[in-house]
Amino acid sequence: MTDSDHSSGNNVGDTDDSLTVREMIEQAGEESVFRNRNLVEPDTIIDRDRIVGRDDQLRTVVSNLRKVLNENRPPNLLLYGPAGTGKSLIFDAVARQIRDISKNRGYEFGTLRINCQNLRSLDEAVYALVREAAHDLNEEIGVARHGVSTSTKYDRLYDLLDEGYDSVVFVLDEIDLLLGRRSSSSEPAYSDLIYQLSRASIESIDIQVSVAALTNDPEFMNNLDARAESSFNPRDIPFSDYDANQLQEILRNREDAFIQDALSEDVIPLTSAFAAQSHGDARKAIDLLRKAGDVANENGDLTVTENHVREAQEDVETDRSLKLVEGLTTQKKISLYATAAVAEFGKSGSTTASSRVAFPVYQFLTDVLDADGRTRETFNNYVREVGTYGQLDHERKSLGGKQGGGMYLMYEFKRDPGEIKKRLEQDERIADLSHHEDGLKRVIQAQKRNFAEN
Ligand SMILES: Nc1ncnc2c1ncn2[C@@H]1O[C@H](COP(=O)(O)OP(=O)(O)OP(=O)(O)O)[C@@H](O)[C@H]1O
Ligand SMILES: [Mg+2]
Repeated sequence: MTDSDHSSGNNVGDTDDSLTVREMIEQAGEESVFRNRNLVEPDTIIDRDRIVGRDDQLRTVVSNLRKVLNENRPPNLLLYGPAGTGKSLIFDAVARQIRDISKNRGYEFGTLRINCQNLRSLDEAVYALVREAAHDLNEEIGVARHGVSTSTKYDRLYDLLDEGYDSVVFVLDEIDLLLGRRSSSSEPAYSDLIYQLSRASIESIDIQVSVAALTNDPEFMNNLDARAESSFNPRDIPFSDYDANQLQEILRNREDAFIQDALSEDVIPLTSAFAAQSHGDARKAIDLLRKAGDVANENGDLTVTENHVREAQEDVETDRSLKLVEGLTTQKKISLYATAAVAEFGKSGSTTASSRVAFPVYQFLTDVLDADGRTRETFNNYVREVGTYGQLDHERKSLGGKQGGGMYLMYEFKRDPGEIKKRLEQDERIADLSHHEDGLKRVIQAQKRNFAEN
């Protein structure tokens, strides 16, 4: 059987036989361009025959990790290169096989992986490693998350490892993001973590331990402090961007995700061209191909065409610009939320909002949230500024005789204001507003009547 039998990822083989019962139930009776959609999902574990290029990296990882099979400690590794260039893929594919072979020989080799992106401190990283080890070994975590020192967590980690394994590689993904709470004088948390873990074999633990760090930052080693650098002292394994031809080949190797002849001729070249243009990231190329298939399905089409790819690509771009909204300050988010609500709750399909209506609505929202209220002018500056992110345009208008004359701004959203509101509600400070929709609608209607608009 395949190497994925012992892994926790989705299992994928070459034929429909490999579908789980659940997948068969889910797919049965629904017309779809997909035969095995898993194959174009980002985290699916793939077999060697689907890996394109990367022979050098594979060989290097194999020759280093296979030391485990002679019960030697593998050297520390640093895998670096841009996103989606196969770092995790190559490392995991080799580590999984080594683990299987060692297990058969009665030698327990484990990899403990953490992604540092969401970890804010050294303490959280060590706790995450304890949790990984406990989970892998089916043991209790055995240490509190809060209120105990980091060194107590290290102790628990080393106890778990000593009991459960003969050899372990710590896989520190996105290591450069583990900065920790830095005071100006202190080193980033990753320096400390790498230093401790790469010395563990010498000082704290009987089994063999090494460290594999994965990063997008080619300069990573320059940021390590001297003592971490010298105890880590890794073997470098660089990964480079894929070009359009390599991306095409990667996608061709997954064509059997689709039913026969479901992909029209131009689909893979176009998908690869889009992906190569903006990044050379295989994950994005695969995502785009899957999305094109989803678009075809949504339209009830049984072939995927160039147009589906273009539509999927537009969606990806929309999503990116909505992401920018997430980075706004709370005041700007409230201002945008008020304006989007006025547009959304206007005439059906309406995309416009007058500043005369939106400002009092903003005032209502700041009351609800117990936030500071800014002046009308500041409010308008905020909303206009969001326009520079491509969400909306504005036009200056005159009230004429109404309301004693004066000027106001008419905002026009370039995309569904409801979608923008939903995106803003992902911020927990804003999420509360979704519970005040009735009140919000009443305020909007009252304000509209006030200004005799609709
Ligand atoms: N050479 C390749 N052949 C086939 N598929 C690939 C190849 N490289 C990457 N992929 C696929 O692209 C996706 C992303 O790859 P991977 O997770 O290894 O990227 P990464 O370099 O670890 O990126 P990141 O820095 O974002 O973690 C995976 O679904 C993987 O299967
Ligand atoms: Mg990765």
